[in-house]
Amino acid sequence: MGKRISSSTVSSQPAPDHIAQVQSTLLSWYEREQRDLPWRLTDDPYAILVSEVMLQQTQVDRVLPKYQQFLAAFPTLADLATASTADVIAVWVPLGYNRRAVSLQSIARQVLAEYDGRIPDTIDELLKLKGVGRYTAGAIACFAYHKQVATVDTNIRRVLHRAFLGLEHPDPKANDAQMLTLAEQVLPIGHAYNWNQALMDMGATICTSGNPLCGDCPLQQQCVAYTDMSQYSLFPSGTVLRQLRKVAEKKAGYQAKPFTSTNRYFRGRIVDLLRSTPARQRIPLATLGPQIKPEFCEQDHDWLKKIIDGLVKDGLLDANEDGVRLP
Ligand code: ADE
Ligand code: SF4
Repeated sequence: MGKRISSSTVSSQPAPDHIAQVQSTLLSWYEREQRDLPWRLTDDPYAILVSEVMLQQTQVDRVLPKYQQFLAAFPTLADLATASTADVIAVWVPLGYNRRAVSLQSIARQVLAEYDGRIPDTIDELLKLKGVGRYTAGAIACFAYHKQVATVDTNIRRVLHRAFLGLEHPDPKANDAQMLTLAEQVLPIGHAYNWNQALMDMGATICTSGNPLCGDCPLQQQCVAYTDMSQYSLFPSGTVLRQLRKVAEKKAGYQAKPFTSTNRYFRGRIVDLLRSTPARQRIPLATLGPQIKPEFCEQDHDWLKKIIDGLVKDGLLDANEDGVRLP
C-alpha cells in the first residue's frame, strides 16, 4: 500500500541518529556560548512570566533594562495584580505593544483570584489563563518548573525548520501544529530547559532570519537547509535566503509599510500623548487627531475612531463623548 503524501506535510520524523547528533551538538554549544540573561538565573515563575511576555515582540537588549525596572516597580504577582492599570502602562510604555501590559496584568489578576496567587505548572492549566498561548504556556512550564515540554516561538521554529526540514522559503514545509509535533519529537528528555534556551540563542545570534552565519554554526554538518543552500551556486547563504524570501513575499502579495503609517504607530502616539496629559483630563477627538497626525482632516475621523475603539477594547483607553483618557 502506498503512503499518502500531501503537500507541505511533514511525512515522517527525522532519523534517530540525526536527532541525536543535533541534540548533543546544540547542548554542548549552549554550555559554552549561552547568553547571560537575568531570567535564566531565577526560578520565580512570576519573573519568568514577565520576561516571556516582554520578549514576545521585543528584542532581548531592549527588554533587559525594562525587565529589571518592571520587577522593581511590581516585585510580586500580587503587586502587579493590585496596581492601577495606568501605573502598569506607565512603566511599560517604552517597550511598545502596550496591550501586552494590560494582558500581563489581567493574567496576574486571574492567577490571584483563581489560583491563590500561584502560577500553574502544567500547560493545560496555563492555557486556561486568558492571554496565555501555547508558546508562553510551554515556556513557563519549562523555564519555571523544569517540565520536559516543547515550545515554539519564531526563533525556535526557524532553527528547527532549517536543521530538520530545510529552508523555510519559498514555502514552509510545516504548519504551526506540525512544528510543535516536530519540536516534541526532537526534545531531549531531561535537558528541555537548556535545549529550549539553546534554540532561542541559536535563532537570535547565528541562525538569524535574513543572514544566517552558517560559517560559525555548530550545526552546519547536520543542517538540512545548509545542504539545500549549497545546491544554489549563490553564496553567502544570506543572499540565497534573501532571494527566496523575496519570491515568497511576492507570492503572498506582501508589501512592507513604513512604520509611521501603521496603526501600531498611532496607537503608541495616542498613549504617549495621554501620558503627558494631566491625570483624568479628557482630550476630545477633534483635538487629539491633529496632535498625533499633523495632516489630520475631517475624513480621518472614522479612522481615528477605529483606532480608539481598538485601544478601548484592549483596556488601554477610557473613552466617552467628551473624549479619551488613560483608564
Ligand atoms: N525569547 C523568548 N524567551 C526567551 C528567553 N527565555 N531567552 C532569550 N530570548 C527569549
Ligand atoms: Fe541555520 Fe546555517 Fe546553522 Fe543551518 S547551518 S542551522 S541554516 S546557521
